[in-house]
Amino acid sequence: MICLGSSCYSRGNADNLTAIKSFIKLHNLDAAVDFRGHLCNETCNRGPVIQLDDTIHEEVTQSSIHNILDHYFNIDKQ
Ligand code: FES
Repeated sequence: MICLGSSCYSRGNADNLTAIKSFIKLHNLDAAVDFRGHLCNETCNRGPVIQLDDTIHEEVTQSSIHNILDHYFNIDKQ
């Protein structure tokens, strides 16, 4: 899930949203992933926030989102 609240969205989740969609498409994960947006959960000061299963990732940047996704989906970069 990705926070689409105004703070997270303007501070990076707009770009993270694009990155996640591209990652899902690149790795043909459409059928395997339930990707949704959610509204602000009052942790804006630690945003941008995304959540993978029960793990919340805070201060997610354009550089960290790729590492987070690669690690979660066990994508081996070679
Ligand atoms: S806007 Fe994302 S936690 Fe508030």
